[in-house]
Amino acid sequence: MVSDVIHTNELHKVDPVFGQLSFDNHEQVVFCNDKDTGLKAIIGIHNTVLGPALGGTRMWQYNNEWEALNDVLRLSRGMTFKSAITGLNLGGGKAVIIGDAKTQKTPALMKKFGEFVHSLSGRYITAEDIGMETADMDLVRDVTPYVTGISESRGGAGNPSPITAYGVFMGMKAAAKYKFGTDVLEDKTIYVQGIGHVGEALVEHLTNEGAHVIIADINEERLQTVSKTYGAEIYRGSDIYSENMDIYAPCALGATVNDASISKLKAKVISGAANNQLADEKRHGAMLREKGIAYAPDFLINAGGIINVYAELEGYGKTEIMRKTENIYNTTLEIFTHSEVNNSTTHNSALNIALDRIETRKKEANK
Ligand SMILES: NC(=O)c1ccc[n+]([C@@H]2O[C@H](COP(=O)([O-])OP(=O)(O)OC[C@H]3O[C@@H](n4cnc5c(N)ncnc54)[C@H](O)[C@@H]3O)[C@@H](O)[C@H]2O)c1
Repeated sequence: MVSDVIHTNELHKVDPVFGQLSFDNHEQVVFCNDKDTGLKAIIGIHNTVLGPALGGTRMWQYNNEWEALNDVLRLSRGMTFKSAITGLNLGGGKAVIIGDAKTQKTPALMKKFGEFVHSLSGRYITAEDIGMETADMDLVRDVTPYVTGISESRGGAGNPSPITAYGVFMGMKAAAKYKFGTDVLEDKTIYVQGIGHVGEALVEHLTNEGAHVIIADINEERLQTVSKTYGAEIYRGSDIYSENMDIYAPCALGATVNDASISKLKAKVISGAANNQLADEKRHGAMLREKGIAYAPDFLINAGGIINVYAELEGYGKTEIMRKTENIYNTTLEIFTHSEVNNSTTHNSALNIALDRIETRKKEANK
């Protein structure tokens, strides 16, 4: 039947879902709508070969639905590779809720969202992302078991940021070992851009090891607190990328590694927590390689958070969480070797190793 809601002439020329640029053979995309609570959400399940698709829910005021769809497709794909490279038996998924988390998030909306998650019978497991708190996950937990990141009192694994920071620290040490021949960071000059939940915990590891840490943030109060607590120097310049440094640690926003910054960067290593650091994965990955800058892939070294929530599902404790997170050191070294042997960027090497793991599992399942 031809819909009378929208005339076929008015349809966009680009196919809305399967034809999206960010579409990458996602298994399932679920649009969730509830008039009473105002919920408008999209759940993206990219790949479930290694296990249920786990990934957080982001609540954001997107400019339009295309942006929301693009985000959920891109983020869910990223989760597939993050879990695969980390050796977790999880697939990749993510959800977005369209709206302002400060004014439009209500308990009823969160519970309704939980009902949609539940309707997928565990193919998708949710967690926190931007705009979500532990309390929101607790509300989702009231209606479905397919949620992680809940309160510790309800069996949750607690704040993932210190674990994420520890993984980034491990990845940074491995990158230093590759680039400088030693993983000791003492006396290395390290710029940490963004000293929020993860950045601060990273600064603690680095200053404990005797590194020369310089911190940058747009939040003056945080700069003062972190500087006082750990004895880190505050950056007062206007162009961080031009500064002399051994290591650049982006821990704020994505896409800071781009044409403009790479042309100025004097750092020999890039290793930080931010997601999607390379503005263009292929192009900027190649530019870094050409310049001899050792880039520790973000989705590998910031996987401590997902290791932490995976523990909730598997029921293992802090010791195993730390062991798995520490292993980021070995995997990062493996990636550098793989990239050298295969003449590829570290980003591509990490992607290829992740893809191999998925393909192997697929073959085993089809035997
Ligand atoms: N929290 C986790 O466990 C986790 C896991 C994986 C990835 N990440 C990623 O790591 C990054 C940091 O996460 P977080 O939880 O610490 O976030 P956060 O919001 O606590 O901290 C971000 C910090 O960056 C600062 N900032 C924002 N714009 C800036 C700019 N232009 N220049 C300098 N500083 C700026 C903010 O003021 C804030 O202090 C994010 O990109 C996040 O997606 C976090």
